[in-house]
Amino acid sequence: MSTAIIGVGNIGGAVARHLVAGGEPVVVAAREESRAKALADELGPNARAASVEDALTGADAVVLALWLDDMREVIPEQARLLAGKVVVDPSNPIRFDATGQSFRTLPDDQSAGSVVASLLPAGAHYVKAFGTLGADALAVSANREPRRAALLYATDDDSAATTVERLIRAAGFDPLKVGGVAAAGRLETPGGDLHQFGLNGEIIDLEQARTALEGAQQPA
Ligand SMILES: NC(=O)c1ccc[n+]([C@@H]2O[C@H](COP(=O)([O-])OP(=O)(O)OC[C@H]3O[C@@H](n4cnc5c(N)ncnc54)[C@H](OP(=O)(O)O)[C@@H]3O)[C@@H](O)[C@H]2O)c1
Repeated sequence: MSTAIIGVGNIGGAVARHLVAGGEPVVVAAREESRAKALADELGPNARAASVEDALTGADAVVLALWLDDMREVIPEQARLLAGKVVVDPSNPIRFDATGQSFRTLPDDQSAGSVVASLLPAGAHYVKAFGTLGADALAVSANREPRRAALLYATDDDSAATTVERLIRAAGFDPLKVGGVAAAGRLETPGGDLHQFGLNGEIIDLEQARTALEGAQQPA
């Protein structure tokens, strides 16, 4: 079993490094194949660079480490190859203007997760995951001691949950399910109460994540 990672930037690069360190084989792809190749060369024999099509063909799971706008193009182009796969979505509804200022790209009540899930072909197994930490925090928090950092995920799909829990553990984190796709927005920034930036920048462990989740579910 291998995991395709489409996009080798901040998030795709960190996820690929963590998975390979945890013994998971990965196939990486980007717009520029040379960037994927540079990452695969750095990661060694458990990583391979490929075109997007080739990466998807051989994988049972795929991490779409792409901006939401790019997903709107890539997913329809690759719909046939995404059917039957576990599709992991770390995206946020965010873009940056010319001055570097970020802004929300979707209405407050619409999550990037709901958009990505709706773009997928029937038979794809959608899960929101690997986006709850800023990229810098994700890069340095694998196998944290004495308590692992938690990565929260959302899915309505049992096989996606099983696969993403395996990937999150292999990457060096503790997984926690927060709900179905309807809860995806809680894991996104801006606005998500269970995203690192909705938690005062804290990188929480599993116990703190459970407390945050249960606290938010208490009636006011
Ligand atoms: N950065 C963060 O702190 C952070 C945190 C949590 C979640 N996220 C989310 O994670 C996603 C990725 O963010 P990022 O910061 O990793 O972005 P990034 O560093 O800009 O990387 C984006 C990657 O997408 C690839 N790409 C773009 N169009 C493509 C296409 N048509 N086919 C194949 N690959 C394509 C790019 O390829 P090239 O390298 O060839 O250009 C690049 O490797 C976004 O949705 C973001 O909201 C980001």
